[in-house]
Amino acid sequence: MGIQFKGWGIAVPERVVTNDELSQNLDTSDEWIFERTGIRERHIGGTASSLGLAAARAAIADAGVAAESIECVILATTTPDSLIPASAPVIANELGITGAAFDMNAACSGFMYAVRVADGLAATGTQRILVIGAEHLSRWVDWNDRTMAVLFGDGAGAVVIDATDGPSELVSFDLGSDGSLEYLLNCAHGGTIFMNGKEIFRRAVRAMVESSEKAMADAGVTADQLALVIPHQANVRIIQAACQRLGVEMERAVIVLDRYGNTSSASIPLAVDEARRTKRLSSGDYVLMTGFGAGMTWASAVVRWSV
Ligand code: ACO
Repeated sequence: MGIQFKGWGIAVPERVVTNDELSQNLDTSDEWIFERTGIRERHIGGTASSLGLAAARAAIADAGVAAESIECVILATTTPDSLIPASAPVIANELGITGAAFDMNAACSGFMYAVRVADGLAATGTQRILVIGAEHLSRWVDWNDRTMAVLFGDGAGAVVIDATDGPSELVSFDLGSDGSLEYLLNCAHGGTIFMNGKEIFRRAVRAMVESSEKAMADAGVTADQLALVIPHQANVRIIQAACQRLGVEMERAVIVLDRYGNTSSASIPLAVDEARRTKRLSSGDYVLMTGFGAGMTWASAVVRWSV
């Protein structure tokens, strides 16, 4: 048994906040933010459930399936609407889905973790699963802290996944974590996001490279066989460093960070959507998806794209 990606969708809030706008209230500049991170602007607003619902509707329409046929909804998020209940059942209810629905938090690796969970469910009899990555990070950012406020954005991406007897589009995966690094990036109940940016940067590059290499070795795919790398979008310099070590030139990396900032669980599906819309993916292409995040967690997968 394997999985097939049937349809994709994204949603971002209407409100765009540019670096220049942030510079009006913070001691920063478009030049500093773009040079150090690759971010030009981000979308701010909504909630995890409203953005997740909109992305899910788009993915279901793209897949051309009936929402009621979905047996399980997995919402990857670090920023659910509330502690209780989870936001996935809220989304499922709006879609008329009465199957299983739950949230999972693996920070910025969340979307890839959720795809792997869907893969496991498909292998044991679940036919159709909706995976969503949705974040409302702006709610947890200290807007007076220039070191944090410039980095994050809100948004969502979703994919409808079907079980298949044929070859799996998910060729290989590698997931991991190191909870001893919890102190590097965290947010207490009622607090704001704290991060040791420099240390995360260093660890992120290492984690993405090692995890990608494991997934590629498992798939029997070399760097030159990859049509595209779709990385988590935290900082373009992290992506450059990881790609260089993997032997993949930047032309093969998908970058959406400039328009969305770091949207955590949503960043990989936002980048997949961009790659599809700009026709950078063809049937049979090998694609490496790789992410890292708070925890720390990391996740990589080699996908054999099928249109
Ligand atoms: N504007 C202007 N100056 C700034 C800003 C700003 N927005 N932010 C920091 N500075 C200053 C600092 O105060 C410092 O000044 P100093 O030299 O006088 O002390 C100087 O710029 C350099 O700061 P650094 O922190 O050394 O800058 P760095 O190049 O490391 O970039 C950044 C900081 C962008 C945070 C980077 O370290 C990074 O991207 N880290 C990884 C972040 C990341 O990947 N997070 C993952 C999140 S995943 C998840 O689960 C949510």
